[in-house]
Amino acid sequence: MSARSDKNRIIIFDTTLRDGEQSPGASMNLDEKLRIAEVLEGMGVDVIEAGFPIASDGDFEAVNEIAKVVKDSTVCGLARATKIDIDRAAQALKPAKRGRIHTFIATSELHMKHKLQLEPDEVFAKVIESVTHARSFTDDVEWSAEDASRTEHDFLCRCVEAAIDAGAGTVNIPDTVGYTIPEEFTAIIRMLFDRVPNIDKAVVSVHCHNDLGLAVANSLTAVEAGARQVECTINGLGERAGNAAMEEVVMALRTRHDVMPYTAAIKTENIIKASRLVSAVTGFAVQPNKAIVGANAFAHEAGIHQDGMLKHAGTYEIMTPESVGLKASKLVLGKHSGRHAFTEKLKELGYELGDNAVQDAFKRFKDLADRKKEVFDEDLVALVDDEVVRTNDRIRMVSLEVLCGTKHQPPKAELELEIDGEVKGCKATGDGPVDASFNAIKELFPHEARLQLYQVHAVTHGTDAQAKVTVRLEEDGRTVIGTGADTDTMVASVKAYVNALNKLLLKRQKTAPEALSA
Ligand code: KIV
Ligand code: ZN
Repeated sequence: MSARSDKNRIIIFDTTLRDGEQSPGASMNLDEKLRIAEVLEGMGVDVIEAGFPIASDGDFEAVNEIAKVVKDSTVCGLARATKIDIDRAAQALKPAKRGRIHTFIATSELHMKHKLQLEPDEVFAKVIESVTHARSFTDDVEWSAEDASRTEHDFLCRCVEAAIDAGAGTVNIPDTVGYTIPEEFTAIIRMLFDRVPNIDKAVVSVHCHNDLGLAVANSLTAVEAGARQVECTINGLGERAGNAAMEEVVMALRTRHDVMPYTAAIKTENIIKASRLVSAVTGFAVQPNKAIVGANAFAHEAGIHQDGMLKHAGTYEIMTPESVGLKASKLVLGKHSGRHAFTEKLKELGYELGDNAVQDAFKRFKDLADRKKEVFDEDLVALVDDEVVRTNDRIRMVSLEVLCGTKHQPPKAELELEIDGEVKGCKATGDGPVDASFNAIKELFPHEARLQLYQVHAVTHGTDAQAKVTVRLEEDGRTVIGTGADTDTMVASVKAYVNALNKLLLKRQKTAPEALSA
């Protein structure tokens, strides 16, 4: 049965690559976006919003390349309600087997008056013009009323009706600023079903932001009120506090099917893999207590809970770790493990790497196993993720030597970097070993970016654990996050800083037009 003919089927529209990428610091390069799109398609996402083609050449290229390779999911491109945006989106989506143009305009009084400086009638005319123009390229057009939850009700109904009349097959009702609450949002969705005469000609979609922590609750309540498409992101990535987290929406539907008899086509066993990839690519760590994908989501610490779990897992477990693709963490491989066992283990952890990538990862694993007594699943994840974030880097660390401690004052760092293929080296001092290492980077690659955050955490337990370092840099209002992992904290620190610099270089190429963020 198709998603449209099954009245309880929920269309999952993933916007990790568009709204998610709008999170400050979460820039992704083309390779990373392609990798994420492939995972989203593999897990059964119905619609992948791949980017905002007018925003930059990089966004255009990403939508265009994803449109070439993705076959099972619909590929969507965002456009404001202007001809130039819609033309650009249509051009980017040309190779798509199934392409969707998603055009939007703000409908709340606040946005119309202060942001757009347009009268309601002018906005109304643009709704019709934009949807009609988008329909000249494709049958699959989605229209969004930006700030819908704060829009005057009569005007929202008029615009939704007009968008459907003009040919929108999906009408999206965003809670753009994460302001609504479940009861109010239910009433808005019900009102549309009651008052818009042609509402049965379109799929009603919702797009909820998480500013009050209600994005998932608002999305689910909208489903109960009749919405059949939910827009969401992996790990809840997105503008400000983020969007509704896909893993939470999907697992709530699956776990509470008894009271919410709706189904999504997501293969939930792929959730952890997608979460880890998005986290590795963006450098946004998942908080340990995050629902579904946090490190503690399936951990039972309290004695009374452990006792209950041993007697009957259902006492404290409402879903199994396996249902989201989590395998019990155990000691895995050692330095005598072979390539075959290593590749199998990576597959078990959700990584399907090409031959060259496996070769590189295996070399790094052997190196790690030489330095670390026990190699855990978490170590392998950190090792492979570390490799993932470094693809296509312009700057790479070649070697690092640091002298510090009470006898070496001031601390000294000797560093070699490969910059655009050329190896350069220098020595620098600093207030501590990290400061000395970062000063060496600045000497080899002068830049004005400011270090806003430096954070270290251990990947596993023990003094031989790998350190995972996160660095946030800011330049001209743009922020980027870099990560690095190694058993040597200084090496991990330099890797993280260099990773952030590479992302900054990528960001410098972006030219965002005004008021693009939605
Ligand atoms: O939050 C929002 O309103 C959006 C729209 C572009 C759908 O992201
Ligand atoms: Zn949004």
